Amino acid sequence: MQENLLNQIDLNNIPKHVAIILDGNGRWAKKRFLPRFKGHQEGMKRVVEIVEVASDIGIKYLSVYAFSTENWKRPVLEVNSLMDLLVYYVEIQLDRLKKNNVRVITLGDISKIPAKAKNAIIKACNETSSNTGMVLNIALNYGGRDDIINATKNIIKDLELEKINLDNLNEDIFKNYLYTKNQPDVDLLIRSGGEKRLSNFLLYQTAYAELYFTDCLWPDFKEEELFKSIIDYQNRNRRFGGV
Ligand code: FPP
Repeated sequence: MQENLLNQIDLNNIPKHVAIILDGNGRWAKKRFLPRFKGHQEGMKRVVEIVEVASDIGIKYLSVYAFSTENWKRPVLEVNSLMDLLVYYVEIQLDRLKKNNVRVITLGDISKIPAKAKNAIIKACNETSSNTGMVLNIALNYGGRDDIINATKNIIKDLELEKINLDNLNEDIFKNYLYTKNQPDVDLLIRSGGEKRLSNFLLYQTAYAELYFTDCLWPDFKEEELFKSIIDYQNRNRRFGGV
């Protein structure tokens, strides 16, 4: 089945930047009478697999929404377990990420996350910083509105320092103040778990993204689901406002 789907993919038209909202871990666990943490644990395994296959098929930028600015509202135990999972992910995957030439970048204000998670992720970013393959953006304490406000504040600072000029400020300059600086816009945004909203993910960067929503819960999102989303993307007619 995967082979069949893979054959339908045009490898010359792979979306450059794919963003994923990993939703449905809690419901996956609930259906099995398991604690929510088990859903996140299984979800992490899918992150491992999808990172590998995305890099194999030539996706250049993969953004995953690991923890949003709103996720602090969750019970403290769940927040802690998500942070622990992140540390575990980075620790067990770092060698593999290096081997696959993947570069890890964080999106969001990581100054607010627990030291252990922060240190692990900074280590992964540093140790992969010269890799030239796929960029893996891990969104942590990330919010699209926060991204835009943070960019605006830094633009104002640079205006005051006369590093930039108000008359020249345009979309290209603005983009480079976002957490995704130097990266292309999102081409394909995938959301698992059945909800059809952006939930504050990459609001500026998804202006012309193709949106793909699936009922598949994230822990069930195997490589064939990624292939299906890419086939769907390749059948869209992207006009970027033109005719
Ligand atoms: C949404 O499911 C999922 C999250 C808030 C966390 C996603 C995090 C991981 C899969 C852990 C590891 C991530 C990385 C990048 C290493 P939900 O809890 O909102 O599910 P529900 O809507 O069914 O309750």
